[in-house]
Amino acid sequence: AIERTLSIIKPDAVAKNVIGKIVSRFEAAGLKMVAGKLVHLSRSEAEQFYAVHSARPFFKDLVEFMISGPVFVQVLEGEDAIVKNRDLMGATDPKKAAAGTIRADFADSIDANAVHGSDAPETAKGEIAFFFAGLNVYQR
Ligand code: CMP
Repeated sequence: AIERTLSIIKPDAVAKNVIGKIVSRFEAAGLKMVAGKLVHLSRSEAEQFYAVHSARPFFKDLVEFMISGPVFVQVLEGEDAIVKNRDLMGATDPKKAAAGTIRADFADSIDANAVHGSDAPETAKGEIAFFFAGLNVYQR
């Protein structure tokens, strides 16, 4: 089915100036950007976005990292967009990410892991609404 998913190009990849290279991978896989923007998250915004991880030992480092610089947030649309995006990203830990995936090619560590992607339809809906008002998501 045609789905939408939220993708974040994290501060490490933005700092490396590889936004375009990463977007190209989504385009080559048939995913369309239907909303997109650069955002520098505040601490409370990052804490809210990652609230599901608030009890995890890595939460504080995750929030610190995500507010260390601007991120590029986009909504990707396409056939099976959620799984397709996760396949393109590779494993969360770049050391475990398959060759040719975004994290294998651009990520440095499990925190500085270049990209985030929604993990399921319900989370995609919530994550998209967190960043984009409906009128900023476009038909293409
Ligand atoms: P992301 O998909 O953005 O969702 C939560 C983030 O927490 C994850 O990517 C990683 O960058 C970070 N993280 C750090 N340590 C861990 C861990 N042990 N397990 C899962 N995620 C982790």
